Amino acid sequence: MPEKVEYPGGVIQTRVNGKDYTLQSGFEKTLLRLLREDVGLTGTKEGCAEGECGACTVILDGKAVMSCMVPAARAHMAEIRTVEGLANEAGLHPVQEAFVEAGAVQCGYCTPGFLMSAAVLLEELPQPSKDQIKQAFTGNLCRCTGYYSIIDAVERTITRKAEGG
Ligand code: FES
Ligand code: FES
Repeated sequence: MPEKVEYPGGVIQTRVNGKDYTLQSGFEKTLLRLLREDVGLTGTKEGCAEGECGACTVILDGKAVMSCMVPAARAHMAEIRTVEGLANEAGLHPVQEAFVEAGAVQCGYCTPGFLMSAAVLLEELPQPSKDQIKQAFTGNLCRCTGYYSIIDAVERTITRKAEGG
């Protein structure tokens, strides 16, 4: 169970995918359940619920975190990005496009977590090596074992960006 965190005012004020929310429920939950049940964003998945699989990965104040291990109250005054926030009016995020092209999705359950880990990696390191990509995914498990295509997708994203795409 997440540690209980005190927060002022009995509400959680947070920004998710650029939109402000004032939540009056969900205080005792995990961040994962807050996002799914109170914010209504169900793209983030629950796999193990104990910090082992990475299906629940979101970006919290610029860092990839396993939201099943984070108390909901941590969302207060924080900036969160979920898989729903990757695409914009212009289209899919480059890493989403590359996942589609590389066939890096099988059942898809792990995909939101991998996408968020990949997105934050490419923000921190625009040209990561294969080892750095593997390192970034150490917290993400794929039950369908599609690791080669997932790494291929990230490499395609890097190549395309280097070519100016
Ligand atoms: S559901 Fe959070 S790490 Fe598995
Ligand atoms: S695509 Fe099925 S768990 Fe990864």
